[in-house]
Amino acid sequence: MRTWAPAAGAPHGFNHAKRWMIPRFRRTPAAGNLPSVEAVSLKLEEILFTVEEIRRRVEELSDLIRADYEGRDLHVVTVMKGSLFFTADLIRALRRRVTLGCLIASSYRERTVSEGNVELLTQEMGDVKDRHVLVVDDIVDTGYTLEKIREVLLAHEPATLKFAVFLDKVEMREVAFDVDYVGYTIRSKWVVGYGLDCAEQYRELDSIRVI
Ligand code: IMP
Ligand code: MG
Repeated sequence: MRTWAPAAGAPHGFNHAKRWMIPRFRRTPAAGNLPSVEAVSLKLEEILFTVEEIRRRVEELSDLIRADYEGRDLHVVTVMKGSLFFTADLIRALRRRVTLGCLIASSYRERTVSEGNVELLTQEMGDVKDRHVLVVDDIVDTGYTLEKIREVLLAHEPATLKFAVFLDKVEMREVAFDVDYVGYTIRSKWVVGYGLDCAEQYRELDSIRVI
């Protein structure tokens, strides 16, 4: 891992006296000794998908999506916070123009035994009416979250509405929900990393691991 720090006396690594020059940086002395983020999480033994497997699958999905939306505008709505990494990788891999909005979804499943209770914040989802909208989420489990998102977005009358998720726990589904683009189908274990959390921990891991 390469870690860079601003040179001494130039708080942002920028030498204001010589604006035309490339900002001066120096290597952080301790950088080579820092443990990787992965190594810090020693309890998370099992890697489900490596960085390389994630990268390859994101490329494949973006190829499909690029072909399907050729000649049409595309508005991506990312579901915060878990799909931040996946969305960032996917829309860059698309190598085409997109617009981007976001939703915040909070699920209170732990307090309701049999029924999903999903709260959605939609003020930043962008202009959806008559647009081709692709919702991007990290993982689909019971299906309540995407079901709620579909209901809310359909009320705004998009031209088309599709869903992409990186992981699908298909065995856990409680409401029928077909996802248009799936990275990987997985068993019903709790996974973290690549944006996915466990009580807000481990989102920063760059592989996907089983807890
Ligand atoms: P659903 O409403 O049951 O489909 O749950 C979907 C949401 O629950 C996802 O968007 C995630 O935020 C969260 N979730 C479900 N399973 C996992 C997991 O294994 N790891 C991390 N988050 C998960
Ligand atoms: Mg989520």
